[in-house]
Amino acid sequence: MPFNTALTRALGIKIPVVQGGMQWVGYAEMAAAVSNAGGLGLLTALTQPTPEDLRKEIRRCKTMTSKPFGVNLTLLPAMVPPDYPAYARVIIEEGIKIVETAGNSPGPVIKQLKAANIIILHKCTTIRHAQSAVKLGVDFLSIDGFECAGHVGESDITNFILLSKARQTLKVPFIASGGFADGQGLAAALALGAEGINMGTRFMATVEAPIHQNIKQAIVDADEHDTELVLRKWRNTSRLFSNKVAKEAVRIEKADTTGDFGKSGIGAVVSGKRGREVFINGDKDYGVWTAGQVIGLINDVPTCEALLTRIEKEAVETLSKASALYAPESKL
Ligand SMILES: Cc1cc2nc3c(=O)[nH]c(=O)nc-3n(C[C@H](O)[C@H](O)[C@H](O)COP(=O)(O)O)c2cc1C
Repeated sequence: MPFNTALTRALGIKIPVVQGGMQWVGYAEMAAAVSNAGGLGLLTALTQPTPEDLRKEIRRCKTMTSKPFGVNLTLLPAMVPPDYPAYARVIIEEGIKIVETAGNSPGPVIKQLKAANIIILHKCTTIRHAQSAVKLGVDFLSIDGFECAGHVGESDITNFILLSKARQTLKVPFIASGGFADGQGLAAALALGAEGINMGTRFMATVEAPIHQNIKQAIVDADEHDTELVLRKWRNTSRLFSNKVAKEAVRIEKADTTGDFGKSGIGAVVSGKRGREVFINGDKDYGVWTAGQVIGLINDVPTCEALLTRIEKEAVETLSKASALYAPESKL
């Protein structure tokens, strides 16, 4: 019996699992593999240096899957912001039907995409931001708990609270993001009121993830303590894999007395360019890279097909086991 949730119905997918946008990982190989396995794969727009490169990547992905896939568009503070309207225009022109938005001030981009009838999953880490996104007309919220990889926000609320708060307060369907790796997690998210889950780190440790094997192995070898939080002082807190460089960033941030990002010297240490190299050269200590606490639950490197089939089976077993825990008195 296939899943039947607001997410599977709206997106036309079989298993209510989304592969979240991942900088330097969200290429066509990744998105197509997840979509072919019955979930929703997402290309990461800003992994492509220009909007025209994104167009090429979307076209490449179309040759790799006939299933629905989407694009993540992340709006982060930058000295020179990327040309977001141009990225959004390419997404529209290429006929993409689903976009994951994330980050600050998404209003103009959401307006542009909604005018083209695109389904928007907006990812955020607080209910307040979720409510603002509802006002902008998004179709789904992706509620990203403090466990998650990457930008965790500044309020440190984990999914046990966030998801129930979302259920209690949001008038728009939501999915659960951060800390998910298996079908038991999917079943728990559905029980808390979500329509599905979003996973990042788990998909890095798959056969098709276009990153070096050493990094997949580093994820398998790590446990749930092996992440670091950096940049809290600059209200841009990020959860990173705990390696030599991330530890150095923590040390610099603690030692800094200026409060000035430029003067602190941390910028060079947390540079995204070196992080990108890590995925290519396989040296896990070459730069900082993003990972969530869920690394403690990842023990293998399956294909996306094997992973999603397993998640589906575990979720169905968990849901039916849970329903058997209650027997009406007449049946005792
Ligand atoms: C390597 C990596 C890169 C990421 N880059 C982005 C990004 O560019 N934009 C974004 O919205 N989320 C990004 N994320 C966050 C994921 O989309 C997702 O929200 C998060 O991984 C969920 O937490 P989990 O890792 O516990 O599953 C990234 C995550 C990882 C692991």
